[in-house]
Amino acid sequence: MTHNIIANYHCHSRFDDGHGELEEYVRAALQKGLRTLGFAGHAPVPFPCTWTMPSDLLPEYLETARRLKIAYAEKLEVLVGLEVDYIPELISTAAAQIQALNLDFTVGSVHFLGRLAGGELWTPDGPAEELERGVRESFAGDFRRAVEEYYRRVTAMVSESPPDIIGHFDVIKKNNRVDKYFSEKSTWYRSAVEHTLDAVAASPCILEVNTGGIVRNTSGALYPSEWILAESLRREIPVMINSDAHRPDQLDGYYKEAVSILREIGFRELTQIGREGRRRVRL
Ligand SMILES: [Fe+2]
Repeated sequence: MTHNIIANYHCHSRFDDGHGELEEYVRAALQKGLRTLGFAGHAPVPFPCTWTMPSDLLPEYLETARRLKIAYAEKLEVLVGLEVDYIPELISTAAAQIQALNLDFTVGSVHFLGRLAGGELWTPDGPAEELERGVRESFAGDFRRAVEEYYRRVTAMVSESPPDIIGHFDVIKKNNRVDKYFSEKSTWYRSAVEHTLDAVAASPCILEVNTGGIVRNTSGALYPSEWILAESLRREIPVMINSDAHRPDQLDGYYKEAVSILREIGFRELTQIGREGRRRVRL
């Protein structure tokens, strides 16, 4: 793997649900030969949540990240971003409080899908029990409806408030090992995905190939699935590789394999974000 194709725009730290200081990620990035490191802590959400950044830590996060960006400028391209949720009526990258932060980039993710009977928001990006309870209480137990709503939200996100990078495009499959709840081969699933990809192709977003499900052994698969990557290539959607690191040593996790998979599918370039904007690098 040549030096210029290793970059990571999706890493967490002790400021949200990851481990380690931001500077430890910088040191790991230097040691692993990354060209660019983008911080993407979970942006605060306007309700209690155990894995997003508490609002009172946001100023320290931004200050620390910006200090490191300057301190290491000669050795590493450091970018300051956030992973921002898309929750209709509540938060998105278009929210005034996010726009006011002057971030270098945003990762946009749909983590929340509906409300439990008691009104709390739930996520399909948690344990299987949370998914099952959520689908039961917000979608009368109908997984197809829940999945279609997920892709409707991703479509709305990229059309209405496009982030720079789309986070874990098909995270709805996280707990769906061995087709436990639905099959990606069913016509309705393919059509929901393809409709969303059409919206992505018409947007300025970069699709991330997220190795986190493998690195942290949660879904055990790449986000998105290989057939979705093939459909993305057909639509000329720009892609990048990120590991969704929650520890510094995960910064380049499964990158070599992801590069081979992308080459095999037919990709010949990656799109990255640099200090001067976007650039394309040969795979
Ligand atoms: Fe995420």
